[in-house]
Amino acid sequence: MLIKTHADGFVHPVASDVTPLAVYQSRRDLIRLMATGAAGVALASWAAREALAQSWAAPGQNAALARTRSNVAGALIMEKVTEYKDASSYNNFYEFGTDKADPAKNAHTLKTSPWSVEIEGLVKKPGRYALEDLLKLSAQEERIYRLRCVEGWSMVIPWVGYSLSELIKKVEPLAGAKYVEFVTLADPKTMPGVGSRVLDWPYVEGLRLDEAMHPLTLLAFGMYGEVLPKQSGAPLRLVVPWKYGFKSGKSLVKIRFTDKQPATAWNKAAASEYGFYSNVNPDVDHPRWSQATERRIGEDGLFARKRKTLMFNGYEAQVGQLYAGMDLKKYF
Ligand code: MTE
Repeated sequence: MLIKTHADGFVHPVASDVTPLAVYQSRRDLIRLMATGAAGVALASWAAREALAQSWAAPGQNAALARTRSNVAGALIMEKVTEYKDASSYNNFYEFGTDKADPAKNAHTLKTSPWSVEIEGLVKKPGRYALEDLLKLSAQEERIYRLRCVEGWSMVIPWVGYSLSELIKKVEPLAGAKYVEFVTLADPKTMPGVGSRVLDWPYVEGLRLDEAMHPLTLLAFGMYGEVLPKQSGAPLRLVVPWKYGFKSGKSLVKIRFTDKQPATAWNKAAASEYGFYSNVNPDVDHPRWSQATERRIGEDGLFARKRKTLMFNGYEAQVGQLYAGMDLKKYF
């Protein structure tokens, strides 16, 4: 199906045009699985999802949906959602190359099924959890989050998933667990970038346990009403909306509970540039550039203004308490 937008007359393809039918149908099944058992804000039917995914492609029609669907922990986003074609073609996923266009070009080699996530460390119920079981573990919701990359651009994306806290509660961390480490796939056979020395593979990220337990921290399986495209971190990824995008690890294979702050990939690569916390903060510059403003992807015409970056990416009311009394210049 093609959607003609009012503004530019351009006919935007939606997923059903660009995806082979078999893949499309298996996506439908997955989305159905996502929707089963869902209560409250979760979407009821595939038809509703499809209608929603299509409405994302039409500029200017998102505010009402945003208002009804994104009230998680009091965080409402009333901004235009980034177009799917931008969110799925301008990516950072260094396992598939360092150019923004590389992941969309190269990630087709990623094998997302079968998939499982190993839970280990200081936890009562360690083990290997199959993707199918993770999908069903809790009701999935649609949540619209800003994603602010440390490089100075941002997007607004409707994710599909549930709070990571749901999984954490199920596996029961032990009293000594203070941090959570997220390890993502590093398969040199399917990921051409893993041969490069730009990062120490696998890509590892980490959160304090209370950050990981915060209701805004999302375990995402989909976006725009579809399963995640491979370049966006299929089949499951993290989204931590108040932190710079690199904290949101893609294609997760291991979640480890520890008593020590994890060594993270970007911190190991350049400790003075990428701190462990990496909360979005317009007052703390990157050593090589300001973080006070950002460019919204899709708004980069000749006269597009830069936006002011918001403290904690606009989620200060929800997460500010997590950092009460901390010197955020020191713990950047
Ligand atoms: N996860 C892995 N495994 N590898 C990566 O290179 N890049 C990070 C993060 N997660 C990255 C990753 C960075 S720098 C950003 S800004 C976001 O993913 C980008 O997510 P997006 O492509 O969905 O916008």
